[in-house]
Amino acid sequence: MNILVTGGTGYIGSHTCVELLNSNYNVIVIDNLSNSKIDVVDKIKKITNKDFKFYEGDCCNKEFLNKVFTENQIDAVIHFAGFKAVGESVLKPLKYYRNNLDSTISLLEVMNSFNVKKLVFSSSATVYGKPESLPIKENFPLSTTNPYGSTKLMIEDILRDLHKSDNDWSIAILRYFNPIGAHKSGLIGENPNDIPNNLMPYIVKVATGQLDELSIFGNDYDTVDGTGVRDYIHVVDLAKGHIKAIEKVLKENTIDSYNLGTGNGYSVLELVKTFIKVNNVDVKYKITKRRPGDIDACYADPSYAKEKLNWEASLTIDEMCRDAYNYVKKNK
Ligand code: WQD
Repeated sequence: MNILVTGGTGYIGSHTCVELLNSNYNVIVIDNLSNSKIDVVDKIKKITNKDFKFYEGDCCNKEFLNKVFTENQIDAVIHFAGFKAVGESVLKPLKYYRNNLDSTISLLEVMNSFNVKKLVFSSSATVYGKPESLPIKENFPLSTTNPYGSTKLMIEDILRDLHKSDNDWSIAILRYFNPIGAHKSGLIGENPNDIPNNLMPYIVKVATGQLDELSIFGNDYDTVDGTGVRDYIHVVDLAKGHIKAIEKVLKENTIDSYNLGTGNGYSVLELVKTFIKVNNVDVKYKITKRRPGDIDACYADPSYAKEKLNWEASLTIDEMCRDAYNYVKKNK
């Protein structure tokens, strides 16, 4: 089976390519390298000892997409490509609406013209907004608080309308909670070039001396220790969830959404202290004011994904901390 992976040199995309190749799928990757490096292609090949095709290009470019679909017999698509920085999306909404919506609609139109109607879509728990209760189930109300999240929710609605119009479409919508960690080889992982927006990349840069001190955004939330609680999931567990989703869309013609989380919530302080313990390293931090838009707590009820995809996360918070640090130490 030939799987097209858009955004396949990105953080989650690259880990998913490793698991696809390990599961003996043929992989074709497209990426415009706007937020990833070309050397990830060789690293995926080195980890898996498998070859695959890479095309540098943009999903907004239908001519480029037509070329890829003409040159390859594609059976299904995993669509990661898109901008994903919440803060940037607030400052530059048009950039996010143009890129994330245009790229997805272009991809869907080309898929349709080649009669490729099996899709796994990279969505986000951010579509739940501020949940009424916890843990979060897939049938909870959907709302968003930033343009990035709105693009994800709009794309989900587009996919639901598409399936309604033609139920030959087989679609799995995966709502990620907080992916962290890296492949145990230390060859691929997350290491933003600029100042990280997300917690774990910031912790790691403080631990490796690249940044001076972590600011913990508020300790007056309604949580175990006042700091924000999130459902951190190892990126390799997340990647394996995509393999189960591909199996599902290849087998059935349905559309459904699945929470990819562990079901466990950890506070910022708990994660920092676990990181320090596991890696035997110091991480300086201070408590500062809340970050606008943050919510107290967010964690998944992953039982539906277990029931429908036969998937569940297995890697621990210790392994997430160890693997995150291992990657950046090897790629400073
Ligand atoms: C986690 C916790 C912060 C940084 C975001 C996106 C979501 C998804 C994952 C794309 C919160 C605290 C953070 C820091 C801190 N991305 N924090 N100091 O906000 O849960 O989710 O990333 O799909 O869509 O919204 O992740 O890592 O930014 O924050 O105290 O320097 O860490 O307040 O409690 P978040 P995060």
